[in-house]
Amino acid sequence: MSDSPKNEIDDVTGVETTGHEWDGIRELDNPMPKWWLYTFYACIIWSFAYWIVMPAWPYLSTEGWTYTKGVIGYDQREVVARELGAVAEGRADEMQQIATLALEDTAADPTLMEVSLAAGKAAFGDNCAPCHGSGAQGSWGFPNLNDDVWLWGGTLGDIHYTLTHGIRWEADDNTRQNVMMAYGRDGVLTRREIADVAEFVLALSGRADDAEAATRGAEIFGEQCVTCHGADGQGNRELGAPNLTDAVWLYGGERASIIESVSNGRSGVMPAWGGRLDAGTINALTLYVHSLGGGE
Ligand code: HEC
Ligand code: HEC
Repeated sequence: MSDSPKNEIDDVTGVETTGHEWDGIRELDNPMPKWWLYTFYACIIWSFAYWIVMPAWPYLSTEGWTYTKGVIGYDQREVVARELGAVAEGRADEMQQIATLALEDTAADPTLMEVSLAAGKAAFGDNCAPCHGSGAQGSWGFPNLNDDVWLWGGTLGDIHYTLTHGIRWEADDNTRQNVMMAYGRDGVLTRREIADVAEFVLALSGRADDAEAATRGAEIFGEQCVTCHGADGQGNRELGAPNLTDAVWLYGGERASIIESVSNGRSGVMPAWGGRLDAGTINALTLYVHSLGGGE
């Protein structure tokens, strides 16, 4: 405030100024509008009432951080838990049947199928989306589950087995297991030989640049690769060996990616869900994945 005993009165409005001045512009000392002031007081009173009635303030108790619960004890977590509980209870009968019936029988029952797809979708979001993507579209190293290209097979039985036992999951004795050697790192093939066999893999989808290298590569392929990928490179689902002739690649189909796959191997790992999810959820997930578009 200015140190003059009394502030100047503005000529035009007759209102006292605050005494502040910026480049000749002075501020009138008008009071806050009444409506604004009363709204402000009302908010203060409301907030006190709210603190008393509703959960509000955090504080440190002897058991760690907690909060004032409010006199009506409202708790959104409890509300959600109660609602979820009611949904689960409403489906308990169906989930029980889904857990025990054969997958084909569940698939033939429209009501059970509806519950399976809903439960499968929810469980997918919780457990599978981090790797396979929320739409099961997959990404580098994680297969797309919407298409009809399968590493290990797309029947209900195949999918159920994959989910239950996982892939290269050490903690499960029955896991799907097959490891492609690291041909470069393990010193089985020279760099030149790997380049040749990669050229042959490119030739399988009509993309080779160097026919001579591809011919040399074909010989190496015949010696090293056909046991898993098959004589024509079409893969083998018993062994989880991908088809190398199509346009679908788990780790990339350009020359550099193929050379990397052959040199160092890949050995993708998928956890086993058998011990972690109950039988009904695994069955629901199987039906859900099977329904995504590629089910066989
Ligand atoms: C930690 C990452 C991870 C999680 C989580 C995961 N997966 Fe996988 N999944 C993989 C990988 C990697 C593969 C491919 C492994 C390979 O190279 O054979 C795979 C393969 C599969 C396959 C076989 C696909 C085929 O072509 O045969 C199915 C089916 C599948 N996952 C479903 C699921 C479902 C359903 C869940 C959730 C319950 C799930 N996955 C959770 C990583 C994961
Ligand atoms: C023991 C079985 C086995 C043998 C032998 C084998 N592979 Fe594989 N291969 C696999 C499996 C299983 C995968 C799936 C990726 C993974 O998780 O390792 C794979 C993946 C690949 C990929 C990556 C495919 C993609 O979609 O990204 C290429 C390329 C490949 N193999 C080429 C070869 C070549 C070339 C040879 C011979 C030099 C060979 N493989 C020998 C089992 C085998």
